[in-house]
Amino acid sequence: MIDFHTHILPGIDDGSKNSGMSIDMLQNLRDEGVTDVVLSSHFYASQNSVEKFLVHRSVSLEHLQAALDTDGRTLGLKLHLGAEILFMDSLDKVDGLEAMAIGGTKYILLEMPFTKWSSRNLDTVYKIKCNGFNVIIAHFERYLGFGNGENELDELQRMGCILQMNAEDFNGFFAKRKSVKFFETGRASLLGSDCHNLETRPPKIKHAYDAIGEKLGRGAVEKILSLGHKILENSRYLEV
Ligand SMILES: [Fe+2]
Repeated sequence: MIDFHTHILPGIDDGSKNSGMSIDMLQNLRDEGVTDVVLSSHFYASQNSVEKFLVHRSVSLEHLQAALDTDGRTLGLKLHLGAEILFMDSLDKVDGLEAMAIGGTKYILLEMPFTKWSSRNLDTVYKIKCNGFNVIIAHFERYLGFGNGENELDELQRMGCILQMNAEDFNGFFAKRKSVKFFETGRASLLGSDCHNLETRPPKIKHAYDAIGEKLGRGAVEKILSLGHKILENSRYLEV
């Protein structure tokens, strides 16, 4: 399994607080059967420069690696460095976004505004696409309560954006049924845990893959994984 959305890197955002917690989070995902983890720390272009973020991310990764070395265990996971880039209207003009792309690929994880999107917002996404990026929309289901609906999602998909869902939205009978439907209709294509810690936003994703497999058959899970592996095909990853 692949987890496309995590906040596991220590001390860089509101996710993992320290390397010990990061190792526990990685181990939980590994125990669930995850093989590939995208490290998607928050990046806010309005508050932070790309350069500063990259330095911060490298330092965080060094801490994690040092802790793993000390620990002496091999987790058997591939880590793909990326970022969860928060949308802003001039994001298409920000230099250096390619350094945020997952594992040096052309795929970026984009967090859209938690408001009703304007046509200008969608134009910016289109311009980012035109700059040569493949855009993965982070947890698209979370924007639906803000007046965004079928039209906005249709438009993003027409542009070629890939829509990612959070595994936590598969918790509970009705939520699970609704979430599986998004995969059945071709709206959603990827899964992420969006884990931030071990308790309230935990590294759990297997239940979401399982729910899809149970309702739609193994082929539906294979489809998610095959797209995931295609995205990560040329990704530079770290083996831990
Ligand atoms: Fe996130």
